[in-house]
Amino acid sequence: MMFFIVKNNKVLILGGFMIRINENFLNLKDNYLFSTINQKIEQYKKEYPDKKIIRLGIGDVTKPLPFGITKAMEQACMEMNQVETFKGYGPEQGYEFLREKIQQEDYEKKGIQIDKDEIFISDGAKCDTANITDLFANANTVAITDPVYPVYLDSNIIAGRTKIIYLPCTKDNNFVPELPKEKCDIIYLCYPNNPTGTVLTKEQLKIWVNYAKENKAILLFDSAYERYITQDNIPHSIYEIEGAKEIAIEFRSFSKTAGFTGIRCAYAVIPKGLVGYTKQGKEVSINSLWKRRSSCKFNGVSYITQRGAEAIYTEEGQKGIEENIRYYQENAKLLKEGLQEMGYEIYGGVNSPYIWLKIPKSQTSWQFFDELLMKANVVGTPGSGFGPSGEGYFRLTAFGKREEILEAMEKMKRMFE
Ligand code: MLT
Repeated sequence: MMFFIVKNNKVLILGGFMIRINENFLNLKDNYLFSTINQKIEQYKKEYPDKKIIRLGIGDVTKPLPFGITKAMEQACMEMNQVETFKGYGPEQGYEFLREKIQQEDYEKKGIQIDKDEIFISDGAKCDTANITDLFANANTVAITDPVYPVYLDSNIIAGRTKIIYLPCTKDNNFVPELPKEKCDIIYLCYPNNPTGTVLTKEQLKIWVNYAKENKAILLFDSAYERYITQDNIPHSIYEIEGAKEIAIEFRSFSKTAGFTGIRCAYAVIPKGLVGYTKQGKEVSINSLWKRRSSCKFNGVSYITQRGAEAIYTEEGQKGIEENIRYYQENAKLLKEGLQEMGYEIYGGVNSPYIWLKIPKSQTSWQFFDELLMKANVVGTPGSGFGPSGEGYFRLTAFGKREEILEAMEKMKRMFE
């Protein structure tokens, strides 16, 4: 049944007995990239149950958590068992003990002044980079590098934003995005980059910081992979660039640095001086908006998790995570060199756990995916899944187990013999 009124000789439909959906979802690709890959693996496993599959697709860590971290979580868990130390709801922004550690260890020690109140603890950079879209009007033009981590694009489509500009990053421009010709308001940058594994220098980032300042735009800088940087002159934080605090939000995660993909903990830095504008041009603090959003939609990350994250910053914690990072870096090196020996053109893998491989011209990246799965039983991620400029490329992650990385290389070698 429909309800309607007649006004000025026009019939206005008010609604009916049916639930309306957010039709923006219909503008998304049918499936999230990594879900499609999982479906393909499941299908393959059904057909070939005896085959062992090596998964170098989704960037999920394989090394267990360092002992110091699990010990801290165990202690926090036991606190929950005592009436004196039991914790209920925590602060939405995160416990001060963790924000203080982040402020000192990740910023102050590196010469960057960030206030504790500018740090927001969350359950993942994926959620943060998606949720931040709540703060901005749909009229904004969004720029995303292409290929891109799919969350940036999907979350903007869901929000109903239609003005989305791709900034192609391919070997033709050395994977360095050019400034857009049209004016952009929201710019996503992820460096070290997922998926290409490439980086930008201070000078290259400075161009973007200046662009954002001149255009009253905002940079959403995802530096989830910063711990994988090995070369000098590659910034770990956007705030190493002068003036960035006026225009940038930084997203960081403990997932890939400390093995927290299953535990879930990350943080966003939103400087207090960062502003957005109303339609009338009035300045509004982005930090306050995010605080407001968090208190409405989020109840914070668990105490146990935050105690675990705090332990990352102890001597034992640092030693443990550095060992794991070195292991993945060595995996990346082995993958890169092995694939180069096989004749592939390889990008990434030096400052990043991702290898970006140029595939033979005759194949699409999904065809390469299928061939690799069928012939070598190795799973990677097709470049086109990250955007149109990813076509012709393929991503492999270095987060696998060493023996599986070596086995994958052997199998790939045989596949092409
Ligand atoms: C990836 O494989 O791109 C990431 O692991 C996915 C994620 O961080 O959500």
